[in-house]
Amino acid sequence: MPQRSAMLRRSTPLRPALSCNNSSTNMPVNPLQLNAHGELKHLLTLEGLPRESITHILDTARQLIDARGGGIKKSPLLRGKSVFNLFFEHSTRTRSTFEMAAKYLSADVLNLDIPASSTQKGESLLDTIHTLSAMRADVCVVRHPRSGAPFLIAQHCAPHLHIINAGDGWHAHPTQGLLDMYTIRYYKRDFTRLTVALVGDLLHSRVARSDIHALTTLGVPEVRAVCPRTLRPAGLERFGVRVFDSIDEGVQGADVIIMLRIQRERMNGPFLPDAREYFRNWGLTPERLARAAPDAIVMHPGPVNRGVEIESSVADGAQSVILSQVRFGIAVRMAVMSLVAASHDD
Ligand code: CP
Repeated sequence: MPQRSAMLRRSTPLRPALSCNNSSTNMPVNPLQLNAHGELKHLLTLEGLPRESITHILDTARQLIDARGGGIKKSPLLRGKSVFNLFFEHSTRTRSTFEMAAKYLSADVLNLDIPASSTQKGESLLDTIHTLSAMRADVCVVRHPRSGAPFLIAQHCAPHLHIINAGDGWHAHPTQGLLDMYTIRYYKRDFTRLTVALVGDLLHSRVARSDIHALTTLGVPEVRAVCPRTLRPAGLERFGVRVFDSIDEGVQGADVIIMLRIQRERMNGPFLPDAREYFRNWGLTPERLARAAPDAIVMHPGPVNRGVEIESSVADGAQSVILSQVRFGIAVRMAVMSLVAASHDD
């Protein structure tokens, strides 16, 4: 009785209760991400993803964390499914936590060794995906230096395959954005009373773009973009943020400070002076942190450049939640993989 079994599957607790409109930000909903039932089929971007979808992912992640010990509960949700990690760019946190998340969900996991793969012989991205799809990959987690690569894959892949963007170029890092939202909700509870400052290289930061979309969708009343003029994306104000070109003013009274990584290869170029001067002008020190709200939290997606964007005593200090972000990333990535895998074919 296929209809009955479909109904039963749809009544599982992991079924996303999604709407197709983002009424919070008026951003268009990406038609590739949500199927006709409003379920998350792929996760490509947080731009346009409705508030209830984001909240549903965060709630699902919370259910996967043991309320007493804070550990992750092992789950059979992806038993019999295959997760392929395709990292065309380096990663420590995202790649490892996706792998751990898939294993906690009882999936079979394959990390494709890109430097040893046929990509090096000129095989195209889509041919690689079609090859893995023929091996019955169910979920592909893709990090790629080119913005839009996961979208291209989602447009052309087999219907049974689910694509999760693990960071594409400067464009988006949606699971980082989601784990950042999980972390903020864990420590601050209510998004609607917060001032959140994003500080540093906003121009090249896919994390900043994903965070801004999520924060504005979740109703944060003041999202601040705090950066040198050379590292400010054009038209930033359109996304509902307040722009500051002084860190002292930008962190004043903030409840959450999200420091962004400076890409060292950009130092001494047209965008930035040397590291020491950058730290003097833009680094988060204990004195600058003292300007924020007394219970402010300090976040950073990692990897951290100590002494460039943040002083070690702050990165390791009592207000830092950087390692909590990493820990929550496992549950958030488990939630995303469970949800996409539970979605129905259109
Ligand atoms: N935050 C982040 O994406 O870190 P990795 O590059 O180590 O995955």
